[in-house]
Amino acid sequence: MSNTEILPGQLFIGGQWRDAAAGESIDTLNPATGEKLTTLAEAGAADVDSAVAAARQAFESKPWATMAAADRGRLLTKLASLVERDIEKLARLETLDNGKPIFESRYVDMPTIVDIFHYYAGWATKLHGETIPVRGPYLNYTLREPVGVVGAIVPWNFPLLLASWKLGPALAAGNTVVLKPAEQTSLTALELARLTVEAGFPPGVVNVVTGRGHVTGAALASHPGVDKVAFTGSTTTGKAVMRAGVETLKRVTLELGGKSPNIVLEDADLENAVKGAYNGIFYGKGEVCAAGSRLFVHKKIKEAFLEKLVERTKKLLPADPLDPKTRLGALVSAAQMKKVLDYVELGKSEGSRLVTGGSAVTVGNGKGYFVAPTIFDGVANGSRLAQEEIFGPVLATIEFSDTEEAIRAANDNPYGLAAAVWTKDIAKAHSVAHRLRAGTVWINCYNAYDAAAPFGGVKASGFGRDLGMHALESYTQVKDVWVNLKD
Ligand code: NAI
Ligand code: MG
Repeated sequence: MSNTEILPGQLFIGGQWRDAAAGESIDTLNPATGEKLTTLAEAGAADVDSAVAAARQAFESKPWATMAAADRGRLLTKLASLVERDIEKLARLETLDNGKPIFESRYVDMPTIVDIFHYYAGWATKLHGETIPVRGPYLNYTLREPVGVVGAIVPWNFPLLLASWKLGPALAAGNTVVLKPAEQTSLTALELARLTVEAGFPPGVVNVVTGRGHVTGAALASHPGVDKVAFTGSTTTGKAVMRAGVETLKRVTLELGGKSPNIVLEDADLENAVKGAYNGIFYGKGEVCAAGSRLFVHKKIKEAFLEKLVERTKKLLPADPLDPKTRLGALVSAAQMKKVLDYVELGKSEGSRLVTGGSAVTVGNGKGYFVAPTIFDGVANGSRLAQEEIFGPVLATIEFSDTEEAIRAANDNPYGLAAAVWTKDIAKAHSVAHRLRAGTVWINCYNAYDAAAPFGGVKASGFGRDLGMHALESYTQVKDVWVNLKD
């Protein structure tokens, strides 16, 4: 697939492909080469209006409104099979558009999407109400209903995967969706739209509107016809999305940034903890909301630990994302690369010690956005390097001398998405896990995910849960019905 074979993107509204009403378009690039891949239509307010109207229409009419739950499940199963069939193509497209290693797109993102659609296909028939033993001659029961039109706004780090996090539960529960992928990485969402047609989803059930955040995203987040917004992205934009939904009291779920602590206690298995720290920060180029970007290491083992970690890190060379051997790809954009490199400079100016990396790397034509894996030591937990989300392959190492101190410092941060603890002491592992303020805690592992395991944050990392059965809560609402049994 050469770049020229990627056709310009259109909007997918009510089962039809169309250009933006105002004829606007934007470019999407290959971050590994800086070259344009193709153009995307940019949906303006009128297009978002059409998409929401199509979603509303589909929500309220046959066949979707009256479809048996089992048949909704079958459609999701079919969609899972189609993603699986096209896995090579989708993985390649994701890598071209995002810069992530093909190894990750092909063997992590895409298979996980297949799992997620299968998982939620199964839930379609398992969502039900209950009967409630009320006082009086009444039958009281609940119905679990879909919320209506869902606006799903997703970022560029796991483009299709995060779209599936929203689409799976939304569709299983009988909602309709207007999906807005990130402007940097919309191509796989457009492919998915094609697959929903092939799977047999009725027109209007899934709509895709591409465009920039402050144009298309803002129009969707504030649209009165949207019942719920499911958002993943930065904390700043999450706040804007929440504000935009206030007037029409939209349900909002926000999965936002993180600065997740990865805590290595004195008795940890060193080899495994080193691997966990390495994968925790360098997987996905560190452009991962749950990246283990704050590494807390007990001072007694810190020197030995860092030595091993740095040795491993020095072998991780950014390279062509399409090469199957590559494990560190290109950052998503010039803006993201600049942000990461600016943080490196900031770290140095704050007095943290740069141990390895810290600079851009030339790969291929030299125009891509590659940054060497970077480790800082001697970082103060109160410094900006340790407090702010960088969203790149930059690790802040912080030393501690007892577990209490580590827990306190780990929690002393605005975010609360994920955390990890490494120790052989099982009681300590659980007690630390209970005391960390985070939506996910990993014990002796990092970056483990599953369609069935809920994921989301506390504090500035947002609220609401994606994945698992908990995600279904926010895509459904309960109706209570009273029946008079008196004759
Ligand atoms: P962003 O949060 O602005 O973008 C995420 C999505 O929101 C995109 O689809 C974007 O088009 C949309 N969006 C932007 N402004 C909007 C608005 N006013 N209303 C509705 N939708 C809007 O993130 P951005 O600017 O791409 O990245 C900046 C930083 O955000 C990153 O460096 C990183 O720190 C953080 N980030 C965190 C993510 C996470 O998963 N926690 C994902 C992406 C970015
Ligand atoms: Mg791109």
